[in-house]
Amino acid sequence: MMKGGIGNLMKQVQQVQDNMAKMQEKLADMEVQGQSGAGMVKVKPHLPQMVRFRRINLMDDTFPINAPLDLIFCRNVMIYFDRPTQAKLATKFYRYLKPGGFLFIGHSESLQRLDQPFTPVAPTIYRKGT
Ligand SMILES: C[S@@+](CC[C@H](N)C(=O)[O-])C[C@H]1O[C@@H](n2cnc3c(N)ncnc32)[C@H](O)[C@@H]1O
Repeated sequence: MMKGGIGNLMKQVQQVQDNMAKMQEKLADMEVQGQSGAGMVKVKPHLPQMVRFRRINLMDDTFPINAPLDLIFCRNVMIYFDRPTQAKLATKFYRYLKPGGFLFIGHSESLQRLDQPFTPVAPTIYRKGT
């Protein structure tokens, strides 16, 4: 059973939902500027200015990114690694997150039964301690 029992889990799920609601508000502010082509949308200019693309090898000891991060989405990637490598990568992600930050992994993945520091808050969502 996880730390703090079901009450604590429900509180953390509520926090995730609150944070998602706040993110949706922010995303609404970044809204689409208009249609730009078939199946494509054009967003307001300040959104692409906030995006940085980097090619990262997850096996590297350090990543060339600005940290700490609020959220990490790494979906359907760890499943291809062996368990020691998954644990090592999860621990690396932990280092790159702010206290209270979240890691989202794929629906067929799990960090359960791995030696890693995250607290599970929902299926496939893990949180760094505050
Ligand atoms: C099944 S795809 C998942 C892609 C995407 N996240 C998704 O859910 O659709 C697995 C991805 O892991 C990437 N990958 C595998 N090993 C990697 C590594 N060492 N560093 C970074 N990416 C890696 C592959 O390039 C591939 O894009």
